[in-house]
Amino acid sequence: MPDITFITNDGKVVSAPQDSNLLRVSLREKGGIPFKCGGGLCGTCKCLIEEGRENTDAVKKKEEKLLSAEELEQGYRLACQTFLKGDVKVSWEEAPKGGTSARQVQPKAEA
Ligand code: FES
Repeated sequence: MPDITFITNDGKVVSAPQDSNLLRVSLREKGGIPFKCGGGLCGTCKCLIEEGRENTDAVKKKEEKLLSAEELEQGYRLACQTFLKGDVKVSWEEAPKGGTSARQVQPKAEA
């Protein structure tokens, strides 16, 4: 069974059956890869296969739309479109925490 290392998630390692979908494994095992659509449309699940690119299946048309040729060259994939034939190590950019919803609290003058 392929071992998947989720580098960005403190290097967590899980095993998954041959030909598993990377995003599904991440969801099932709490790997932590971000996602929204699960269908190759949003690009949220963009991740970098740092090791084991030879153990992933061919790049899909949807990935060619959402990733630049340069990114594909570097080993970026969409997790929801990637199936695993062997061990891989994957990293991704973490979404900024807090983001736009940060509250601005104005100090009130005490009476
Ligand atoms: S989750 Fe939207 S493209 Fe993969």
